[in-house]
Amino acid sequence: MISGRSGRIRTCDPCVPNAVLYRAEPHSDKRPAYSVGCDAPQAAELRNFVPVKTGLETSILPAGQAGAEAAARILAAGGLVAFPTETVYGLGADAANATAIAHLYAAKGRPAFNPLIAHVADLAAARRIGRFDPRASRLAEAFWPGPLTLVVPKTDDCPVADLATAGLDTVAIRIPAHPVAEAILRAFGGAVVAPSANISGHVSPTLAAHVESDLAGRIDLIVDGGPVAVGVESTIVGCFEAPILLRPGGLSRERIEAVLGMPLVRPPVQNESDDSQPLAPGMMASHYAPRANVRLDARDVAPGEALLAFGPVRLPGLEVAAAVMNLSATADLDEAAANLFGYLRALDAKAPNAIAVMTIPEEGLGEAINDRLRRASVAR
Ligand code: TXA
Ligand code: MG
Repeated sequence: MISGRSGRIRTCDPCVPNAVLYRAEPHSDKRPAYSVGCDAPQAAELRNFVPVKTGLETSILPAGQAGAEAAARILAAGGLVAFPTETVYGLGADAANATAIAHLYAAKGRPAFNPLIAHVADLAAARRIGRFDPRASRLAEAFWPGPLTLVVPKTDDCPVADLATAGLDTVAIRIPAHPVAEAILRAFGGAVVAPSANISGHVSPTLAAHVESDLAGRIDLIVDGGPVAVGVESTIVGCFEAPILLRPGGLSRERIEAVLGMPLVRPPVQNESDDSQPLAPGMMASHYAPRANVRLDARDVAPGEALLAFGPVRLPGLEVAAAVMNLSATADLDEAAANLFGYLRALDAKAPNAIAVMTIPEEGLGEAINDRLRRASVAR
């Protein structure tokens, strides 16, 4: 029984993140205004309404069979489950359930025009969703499971809800290379849409703890599979007449071009004020943003700045830095990608005047790292 004391009310609907219920405060006679399940609310003396933020109880389970089964059950019931992939943690919902997807957008605070990636366990499931021309098939065979997302035309009976594809006639698909993601997808049996499991615009999560700090109370379950291996999101290739690199990511351009035998085209730069239907609507200029300003190509460190270093070189001013983290002391770009989001979060938590970032070469995963850093550095 819930009395008139102030506190949290949990919604009975596991899919309503942060619903706001109104509860009457007790009158001066201190009797409870109403009690759920006993007296009818109409009988209560509803005079002073107090908004009460209700949250979901977010469970955290270790990866394993019980975790995968719980995840599948919650997904089937329209709930939201965060789970690790090899790139970043994803926030999953049943791809065929528009209501669940609406809750997912709400939990992330994500603009509804930004479509989602459908995750599946195998190529047969991918072909039920999208149409693969010979080039798309070649890429899928070469790199799946793995950190590559392919944007292809939808099949006629594509089960992915229109809300997840934001009304486009194409769909983004990927098979993640992570045993926990695979176990959940197999236990669930259908496609799972999953953006990165962070509040929209925040840095993507590479640990379960990052998911918890952004989304606890807004989602049903976090499956903790430890740190991810790649650390930046998947590379997105649009399989159109000419294959387009829509987002650099965890698979380098060079490896994709080697399989295609042709260069990937880059789409024109877009920004948030552009209201035309973009090719990759998620490529908004300011994204992946820490709270502190980010200063790129730093050659020195100002007092009070944090330094995100790369490689063995020691910059002048290092001794006055508010904090220093090195993405890779040996200048290994794969190691740097895996550390990127976690280190940005850790430096940001020190509340520095700014985060100075050393130059990172634009090759291999450096293209994805620089893309994320440029977005993080856009003035807000
Ligand atoms: O590594 C990843 O890709 C992670 C993990 C969880 O799989 N997911 C991820 O999702 O990064 P998200 O939602 O943060 O990024 C998906 C991107 C967005 O930029 C979106 O605009 C783009 O994919 N996208 C989705 N469907 C598209 C479509 N039909 N055409 C073009 N871009 C699309
Ligand atoms: Mg994201």
